[in-house]
Amino acid sequence: MRSAPSFDSPSVAIVGAGAIGLSIAWKLAAAGCRVQVFDRGLAGRGATHAAGGMLAACVETEPAEDNLLPLTRASQALWPAFAAELEEASGQSVDLRTEGTMVIAQTADDAAKLRFLHGLQSGFGLPVEWLSGAEVRRREPYLQPGVAGALYCAEDHQVDNRKLAAALHTAALRAGVELHENAPVSRIEMHSGRVTGLRVGDNLVEADRVVLAAGAWSAGIEGLPPAARPPVRPVKGQMVCLRMDPRLPLLRHVVWTPGTYLIPRLDGRLLIGATTEERGFDDRLTAGGQFALLEGAWRALPGIAELPIEEAWAGFRPGSRDDAPILGLSEVEGLVLATGHHRNGILLTPVTADSIARLVLTGESDPVIRPFALDRFQPKGAAA
Ligand code: GLY
Repeated sequence: MRSAPSFDSPSVAIVGAGAIGLSIAWKLAAAGCRVQVFDRGLAGRGATHAAGGMLAACVETEPAEDNLLPLTRASQALWPAFAAELEEASGQSVDLRTEGTMVIAQTADDAAKLRFLHGLQSGFGLPVEWLSGAEVRRREPYLQPGVAGALYCAEDHQVDNRKLAAALHTAALRAGVELHENAPVSRIEMHSGRVTGLRVGDNLVEADRVVLAAGAWSAGIEGLPPAARPPVRPVKGQMVCLRMDPRLPLLRHVVWTPGTYLIPRLDGRLLIGATTEERGFDDRLTAGGQFALLEGAWRALPGIAELPIEEAWAGFRPGSRDDAPILGLSEVEGLVLATGHHRNGILLTPVTADSIARLVLTGESDPVIRPFALDRFQPKGAAA
C-alpha cells in the first residue's frame, strides 16, 4: 500500500499562468512550497488579458444562477484585502475602482425587465437599488438623454485585469515561483492512480501535486482518465477598446446596456464587451461582432462616436457544462482542479487562490468550493 501523502510543503506544478494559476502559485510559494508554473504562452496573456475585470457578483445574477452566489460574494468580499496585499507584495497598482455598476434601461420595456431582475436580486439579499432616469443622468451625464432608469450595485467594482496579471507575475516571482513561459504541458504523468508530475516537451517535471489551471485549454492536456478530465470548452468573447479624452472622461461607472457593457479605466481607456460565441479557438475578429459592440455602446453613450479605437481582441472564457467553475480534488490523487471560471475568472481569483492553496497545503476543502467539485458531472449512481 502506498504511504499517505504528506501535506508538509509539497512540491507543486501548476499548469497555466493566468490570474488563477499565478495567484495560487503566489500563495503557495509564500507558504514555503516549491512551485513551478508552466504556460503554453506568456504569463497572463490568455483569458486574463482578454477579460474586462468586472467584479460583478450582483448585477449579473440571473434567474437560476443563485447557486454561484456564495462563491462569487465570498470572492467579492475578499477583493479589497487581496488587492491591497498584492499591491504591497508587488509594488504595483491593480487600479481597483469602486464607483459601482449600473445596468441601464433605455426603454420602458428594458425598465420592466430590469425591475423584475431588481426584485429577484433583492430577494437573494443582494445590495442592488433602483435609480430613476434623472438620477442615472445626474451620476453619468453623457449617457443618452432618454435613459429610463438603472439597476445599481455599489459593491460591484472593477479592477484592471492586465495590471492584475502584471502584479501577480511580480509577486509570484518575488515569492520564489519558478515560471516557465512558452512551455506547453502535453501530459499529466500518473502512477498507480496518483500524479507524479508533468511532461513538458521532452522533460519530465516531478511534483507531489499538480494544479490544473489552464483555463479553456484544460481539457486538452493528455494523461488523465476521462472521468478526471475537466469538461471545459472555449467560449469566445470579442472586445474593443476606445481612448477617452483625459480631460473629458465620458463615464465613471461600469455600465451594462442590453447586450453590451462599458468599462471606463482610470488611464482613460474605455473597454466595450463582449460577444459570446461558440467558435472553438477561432480568435478572429468579425465585422458583425465588432459592429454589435460599437452599436450597443453608442446607443447608450453617443459621445463614443468621436473616440479613437485603440485596440480590439478576442479571448476564450473557460466554460464548463454548467458554466460554474471546477474546483478541488478529482479521483486522481494529487491532482487539484482550478478551472472553468467562465465569465467570472477575475472576480473569483481571490477565493480560488485562498481555497486551492489551503487544499494543497492541508488537504482540507473549504465548504465554499465543495459544490464546485468535478464529481458533480458524474452520472447519478456512478462510483465516486
Ligand atoms: N464577465 C464578462 C464577460 O465574460 O464578458
